[in-house]
Amino acid sequence: NLKTIVRGVGHYLPEQIVTNDDLAQRVDTSDEWITQRTGIKQRHVAAENEYTSDLATKAALRAIEAAGLTPNDIDLIVLATTTPDRTFPAAATTVQRNLGIHHGAAFDIQAVCSGFVFAVATADSHLKNGLGKRALVIGAETFSRLLDWEDRTTCVLFGDGAGAMVLEAVPADQEDDRGVLSSSLRSDGDHWEKLYVDGGPSTTGTVGFVRMQGREVFRHAVGMISDVVEEAFEKADKTVEELDWFVPHQANRRIIDGAGKKLRIPSEKVVVTVDKHANTSAASVPMALSVAVEDGRIKKGDLVMIEAMGGGFTWAASLIRW
Ligand code: ACO
Repeated sequence: NLKTIVRGVGHYLPEQIVTNDDLAQRVDTSDEWITQRTGIKQRHVAAENEYTSDLATKAALRAIEAAGLTPNDIDLIVLATTTPDRTFPAAATTVQRNLGIHHGAAFDIQAVCSGFVFAVATADSHLKNGLGKRALVIGAETFSRLLDWEDRTTCVLFGDGAGAMVLEAVPADQEDDRGVLSSSLRSDGDHWEKLYVDGGPSTTGTVGFVRMQGREVFRHAVGMISDVVEEAFEKADKTVEELDWFVPHQANRRIIDGAGKKLRIPSEKVVVTVDKHANTSAASVPMALSVAVEDGRIKKGDLVMIEAMGGGFTWAASLIRW
């Protein structure tokens, strides 16, 4: 009888920072508009020769180091991304190669902004079923490559980055009640046109750009997030009062605040990085986790809820005893 515990986390942000004022020189927008509607002040953007697998590898090395391990201790890599280096192979296999790992398995997961939470749930069940001992779970994106930089309604919202987590299978009766306690995953393809990319290998043969009905996304977000968070609490037989940290997908300050309010989570318990990172899709949750571990907020034994919602729609939450 196995469970999975978190051994370490890490993140990497590309060097180049683009501020709202920088964007205001390219499209008809302003720092005031972007800040008021989204809480975003700046975003990091990958260099031209920097790929998703590069960001992922750097985040992975930091997580492996934080775990006190070496790359060869890893036998499963699950990488959540919407912006793989190439249509195939999976970026996870490139990360595996970069890390010099030749055993075990590596594959990508595509659930857009919810990808990291889907990846945690997937790695958790793989490890519990004996399909490996230690998994590297990564969320990595170069979302800037999917942006129409002339469309002010989308280009101001997103950024690039990567975050990683090492999960390890241990006997269920060890390590107190630490571990991934529950996950709740949902999707509904009827909503696809509200948030999608207008290209792809099978439709246009191009990469395409992000297209979004912002108001429609906003309208559904808080309700969907609350549903999966409540379900994850219920499955683990825990309550919101027991929660130490709420680490939401960082799409937009107003969605984060709306979900926190609906779920009655005090704002001091909510980790926010959207001001500095913007929306980095699958990378946002692991980067926020890593920031909060690094600055000493999230500590061993804390009860942490992660959640996300994104294109598809997909939406998901996981409750973790850190
Ligand atoms: N700068 C200045 N003006 C802008 C900008 C901009 N960057 N973008 C849009 N506008 C204008 C619009 O053209 C519109 O002008 P009009 O009234 O003259 O037509 C006006 O601002 C209002 O536009 P709305 O789209 O109605 O603005 P809204 O208040 O809905 O805010 C926003 C837009 C921020 C996108 C909001 O809908 C939102 O947060 N939606 C959620 C979307 C989201 O977070 N997506 C991320 C991906 S999904 C995920 O990760 C969950």
